[in-house]
Amino acid sequence: MTQSVLVSVAWPYANGPRHIGHVAGFGVPSDVFARYQRMIGNQVLMISGTDEHGTPLLVQADKENVTVKELADRYNRQIVEDLAGLGLSYDLFTRTTTRNHYAVVQELFKGLYENGYMIKETTMGAVSPSTGRTLPDRYIEGTCPLCGAEGARGDQCDNCGNQLDPADLINPVSKVNGETPEFVETEHFLLDLPSLAEALGAWLRDREDWRPNVLKFSLNLLEDLRPRAMTRDIDWGVPVPVEGWEDNNAKKLYVWFDAVIGYLSSSIEWAWRSGNPDAWKQWWQDPAAEGYYFMGKDNITFHSQIWPAELLGYAGRGAKGGQLHKYGEINLPTEVVSSEFLTMSGSKFSSSKGVVIYVKDFLAEFGPDPLRYFIAVAGPENTDTDFTWDEFVRRVNNELANGWGNLVNRTVSMAHKNFGEVPTPGELSDADTAILDLAARTFDIVGENLALSKFKNGITAAMHVVGEANAYIADQEPWKLAKDESQRERLATVLWTALQVVSDCNTLLTPYLPHIAQQVHETLGREGVWAARPEIHEVSDDMPVELVGVGLPEEGATYPVITGDYTQQQAVWERVDVIPGTPLSKPAPLIQKLDPELAETGPEWAPVQ
Ligand code: MF3
Ligand code: ZN
Repeated sequence: MTQSVLVSVAWPYANGPRHIGHVAGFGVPSDVFARYQRMIGNQVLMISGTDEHGTPLLVQADKENVTVKELADRYNRQIVEDLAGLGLSYDLFTRTTTRNHYAVVQELFKGLYENGYMIKETTMGAVSPSTGRTLPDRYIEGTCPLCGAEGARGDQCDNCGNQLDPADLINPVSKVNGETPEFVETEHFLLDLPSLAEALGAWLRDREDWRPNVLKFSLNLLEDLRPRAMTRDIDWGVPVPVEGWEDNNAKKLYVWFDAVIGYLSSSIEWAWRSGNPDAWKQWWQDPAAEGYYFMGKDNITFHSQIWPAELLGYAGRGAKGGQLHKYGEINLPTEVVSSEFLTMSGSKFSSSKGVVIYVKDFLAEFGPDPLRYFIAVAGPENTDTDFTWDEFVRRVNNELANGWGNLVNRTVSMAHKNFGEVPTPGELSDADTAILDLAARTFDIVGENLALSKFKNGITAAMHVVGEANAYIADQEPWKLAKDESQRERLATVLWTALQVVSDCNTLLTPYLPHIAQQVHETLGREGVWAARPEIHEVSDDMPVELVGVGLPEEGATYPVITGDYTQQQAVWERVDVIPGTPLSKPAPLIQKLDPELAETGPEWAPVQ
């Protein structure tokens, strides 16, 4: 049966180009998953965009001495290029500064407010004593009151992952000038999490096949549910749609309140742009549809607590009851799939500390699939892992080039040289049948792993077939058969068998290595699009929407989106028979081997220190 599968991918802040740590967390895993789901015939909607509100952007705009709008525009464009270059197959990758996003966010806020889940309270806000300006959470650092880590931020502790209030920090200091902030009274709207605790708990306790660390972390959060402020003293963000607030340019909705709503707003934008404005409902209103959310571990709280709480409250499903609103009852996540961190020789990737490998540089030098391969096979799926040039070179050269590239190359070369086409096999030997059976069986093994987001197990099983196929060729010694005219039929059988296994391995590797897969498809003498690539389109912000307040996005502004037509591609999750008589040409080298010296030095733009 065809399943509707929403692939929700974390929204990167538009405060800089993406580094490989970012795309290891949310990017590559989500794309491998989405591509597999499409190949088994499911209807996938994969959405995301740049997250353009919040203090991370304000901090960076200050640093670069540009307006936050200029900063967001610049990095939105850069990130679109980074992610499209990696081949991430979004149906829509948009941004949070669209009029549609603002409208959907305001609708959710109003629904929550009317249902009683937004409570107004006077809280303590941080102010800089020297300037009198309010200090956003991220500008304040101190010791975490929960785990004792130094350098916790006013909104969150990266060490223990808990959300914080700046007033909770021990020894808070301003990141702007090091002074100790003062705390003054300020009014905010808080999401009433305690009244949603029961509904949240009921939903979470139903989740069984989540990664254990994600589930444990999420269940822990339920122990200490307090109301959380969903507005901020800040002039950049979505206006609060409440009388007396909407025109106050000094108070906006909290970035995390709006960012997670991006999953819904981008689905609505995608539907409108595709010409069927109701099409988003297939993934959001049908209870049988599934929704998988991909992110790094510092985002878990917002996806296993804040986002479901917003959805439950909007639909009136908390202790305070309430009504359904415009979008009706919308689906909660099926699974929050979170990765751990990718570090670089032990230190967490950080642009500010200069520990960074940008996706852009990586793509320019190595192309997308070597990085996709590394992340899939050695990425931080279940524990933090370290990126080293040494391991990258070793894996690309030994596994991708000597393993996979060599298998394709020698098989097709020999078939081309001896037959000029896919040869017609004679009777199969036990060895032929054994390798063909292994390849056939592996579809289920890799598929089961991919369905559970066990990317490492999946690629390991696929590469096992590659290894066995290379061993099969070594055993059969087709180069010797080629020298003996009486062995021509045996040669044809061996090469046909090897070509069929190459074709199978290529299918198994397609979700991981879509660019190489397209090349192999063509190398096998086949035509058309096997694995589709995403495209960048320039669109205009002109959806008809209802909005209130000041500081709204300009109507008709243009911006780049990632989109694509993935329904036309041929890739399916099953054996595609290789057809005797299909013409073959001399294959071009598939995977560039890397200079071993790179392992020691790193490239110029990210030298090993
Ligand atoms: N911008 C956030 C980050 O980089 C992630 C937001 S994911 C969202 O940590 F879905 F909530 F938007
Ligand atoms: Zn902490």
